[in-house]
Amino acid sequence: MCVCCLLALLGLLARGPGAAGARSAITAQTLAPCYSADLKPTSGRLISAVSCTVLLAVPPLNTSTVVFWEYKNGPHEEFILKYYLNKPVNTTSSYKNRTKFNETDFSLQMVLQLGDSGMYRFRTESQETDWFQLEVIEPLPAPEIVGNSSVKAGGNTKLVCNISEGKADSYWWKKNGELLLGSDHFQFVHNNTLHIIEATMNDSGYYACVVRNKVSQNETSFLLHVQNAANMVLPVVMACVIVGSLIGVFVWCRRRGRFRHRVCSASEVSRKWRA
Ligand SMILES: *[C@@H]1O[C@H](CO)[C@@H](O)[C@H](O)[C@H]1NC(C)=O
Ligand SMILES: *[C@@H]1O[C@H](CO)[C@@H](O)[C@H](O)[C@H]1NC(C)=O
Ligand SMILES: *[C@@H]1O[C@H](CO)[C@@H](O)[C@H](O)[C@H]1NC(C)=O
Ligand SMILES: *[C@@H]1O[C@H](CO)[C@@H](O)[C@H](O)[C@H]1NC(C)=O
Ligand SMILES: *[C@@H]1O[C@H](CO)[C@@H](O)[C@H](O)[C@H]1NC(C)=O
Ligand SMILES: *[C@@H]1O[C@H](CO)[C@@H](O)[C@H](O)[C@H]1NC(C)=O
Ligand SMILES: *[C@@H]1O[C@H](CO)[C@@H](O)[C@H](O)[C@H]1NC(C)=O
Ligand SMILES: *[C@@H]1O[C@H](CO)[C@@H](O)[C@H](O)[C@H]1NC(C)=O
Ligand SMILES: *[C@@H]1O[C@H](CO)[C@@H](O)[C@H](O)[C@H]1NC(C)=O
Repeated sequence: MCVCCLLALLGLLARGPGAAGARSAITAQTLAPCYSADLKPTSGRLISAVSCTVLLAVPPLNTSTVVFWEYKNGPHEEFILKYYLNKPVNTTSSYKNRTKFNETDFSLQMVLQLGDSGMYRFRTESQETDWFQLEVIEPLPAPEIVGNSSVKAGGNTKLVCNISEGKADSYWWKKNGELLLGSDHFQFVHNNTLHIIEATMNDSGYYACVVRNKVSQNETSFLLHVQNAANMVLPVVMACVIVGSLIGVFVWCRRRGRFRHRVCSASEVSRKWRA
């Protein structure tokens, strides 16, 4: 029993500094209208997108003279701003046009650039928060679908979904707006390629490739036209019909020609008779 009490006491003691640490954590959130990013406030770590605005909020810390916002990325460390209470805020020039500091609650709003990934901390003359990790990534551009827009029925074809910049965490395909599931007929290769095996007329339609990373989702669609074999038969039939009719007309004309000739001869004969 005493061992248990001891363990419980040790647990409490161990939790003491931990609780204090939790109290001095920054919480951050991406502000609307960055719909693609996670908008819930988080503590410890946040992933957000270039040109989104994040709000870094701090718990109340004791201060009577000065507060700082600091940034660190590997060996590189800098002040974002220094604020001597009730004096003008001193903001480092590279943050000046894209940050907003609240002199009441000391929160910091920042429009993100690609190089802003790193650790952030708030400090007073006597206390400081834990470092907060921010990761800034680029939203994905619309992908490009590379493929043959026209395929013959019975043939195989492939559509490749290509993104010019960045890296997608996942890819998927839709046909006429509906999610495509893999099968013997629709095969997904290297995540970004759709193989259509033995295409049928029914495979004609709009194929969309959707790409997603942690801060965005984008898509492009592609019109695939599967040509029926009938498309080949029809011209052949038409050609036969035309050639056939031409021959018929030709034969008819020749016959008619001969008849007319006979008629002519007859009239000549009658003219001769009259003479
Ligand atoms: C913060 O201030 C309160 C009283 O204002 C004091 O009791 C406390 O010890 C201070 N904490 C630190 C870490 O200075
Ligand atoms: C702002 O801080 C920098 C150093 O961080 C200092 O060189 C500069 O003089 C300060 N500017 C003002 C107006 O206090
Ligand atoms: C702030 O100014 C820099 C150039 O000094 C510019 O590249 C950047 O786009 C500006 N940011 C905003 C949010 O206006
Ligand atoms: C600063 O924060 C306080 C308290 O959260 C809030 O009432 C006030 O509107 C904020 N000021 C600005 C300029 O955002
Ligand atoms: C998709 O990417 C294009 C640029 O390629 C961009 O203009 C558009 O805003 C993006 N859409 C979404 C939903 O991110
Ligand atoms: C597209 O398909 C047609 C006929 O199905 C073929 O002649 C052409 O070479 C194909 N183009 C590519 C880029 O695969
Ligand atoms: C995909 O995009 C990359 C970069 O833009 C390019 O190098 C590559 O050739 C493209 N692939 C296809 C199949 O178009
Ligand atoms: C494709 O997906 C697999 C896991 O599903 C992953 O290991 C691989 O890196 C992905 N490849 C590309 C090019 O995204
Ligand atoms: C054609 O495709 C639709 C879905 O796109 C499916 O419901 C239908 O059964 C298909 N018809 C044939 C003949 O495969």
